[in-house]
Amino acid sequence: MNSARIGWIGLGKMGAPMAARLLDAGHTLTVYNRSAARAQPLLDKGAELADSVQVLGREAAIVFSMVSDDDAIQGIALDAGGLLEATRPGLVFIDMSTISPAMSERVAAAAREKGVHYLRAPVSGSTTTAAAGMLTILASGPRDAYEQCLPLLQALGKKLYYLGEAEQARYLKIAINMMVGVTAAMMGEALILAEHGKVEWAQMIEVINNSVVGSPLLAYKAELLATRNFAPMFTAVQMAKDFDLALNAGRNANVPLPLVAISRQFLGAMIASGRGELDFFAYVTLLEELSGLGRPADRERN
Ligand SMILES: NC(=O)c1ccc[n+]([C@@H]2O[C@H](COP(=O)([O-])OP(=O)(O)OC[C@H]3O[C@@H](n4cnc5c(N)ncnc54)[C@H](OP(=O)(O)O)[C@@H]3O)[C@@H](O)[C@H]2O)c1
Repeated sequence: MNSARIGWIGLGKMGAPMAARLLDAGHTLTVYNRSAARAQPLLDKGAELADSVQVLGREAAIVFSMVSDDDAIQGIALDAGGLLEATRPGLVFIDMSTISPAMSERVAAAAREKGVHYLRAPVSGSTTTAAAGMLTILASGPRDAYEQCLPLLQALGKKLYYLGEAEQARYLKIAINMMVGVTAAMMGEALILAEHGKVEWAQMIEVINNSVVGSPLLAYKAELLATRNFAPMFTAVQMAKDFDLALNAGRNANVPLPLVAISRQFLGAMIASGRGELDFFAYVTLLEELSGLGRPADRERN
């Protein structure tokens, strides 16, 4: 596997630390990012730069992508100039972004036509778990390709699940993020009520974290919440995007998702009130404002 040339598309908050892990594991990596300047830290670590995604499609054996959303996948994979327009049959294309099942089906159809093995491998975790290789990876698509790429995926994630041949990974990723987002909303409501009752801020976070509702999610958010550090690991805008994926998938299947729908309204209010680029756990600051418990703005906008 070490000798296979690997391509990587998308060096954002997640893509950069993930690609760096492959380099650190000794793999040969050629990277592409829409804004080329963002690739520099990877080039400093020994990666090569591709000036188009099609270079990767022609020259790499395996190409990963980690980009924002459906539009980004459309651009890098399906549009003219995209990966699947001119690529080598036999390429393994692994998309790790969080995108809709509907868009993923379109990529699957285009990949099939080109003889490309397309793995869906969205991840659960954060920028810190990405840097530590501790992501949870949900995979679906051709099983052979999954097994072939396991050593690479194991450099990125600690828990790996193979879920089936089609869009299973897309659905489960969205389902988990619904729960992550609604947890932030519920935590926000719990915190403002206790705040109103004059429970000390850091103490209530510690107690909630150690209570029956403690979870790995709350554990890695606890310190950040306690210090009111809302620097984004995953922004409110990104969570709104994932809620829209859930609501659209639910609508397409007539599956009611009322809690997600209500929380999505408040994510909209976060964006409208200037909190869109804060971490989604800054939800509590919106509720503080709405309940008259507002904190000085400088403490939340770091
Ligand atoms: N952050 C997290 O904690 C987290 C956790 C799990 C999953 N995810 C998912 O991982 C994916 C990436 O998230 P991130 O936090 O790394 O986002 P990010 O920091 O905003 O990076 C987005 C990446 O996508 C590229 N991109 C966006 N639109 C594009 C387009 N139209 N054409 C080509 N490239 C485009 C960006 O290129 P430029 O640099 O040129 O803008 C950048 O490389 C998302 O689907 C997100 O939902 C994130």
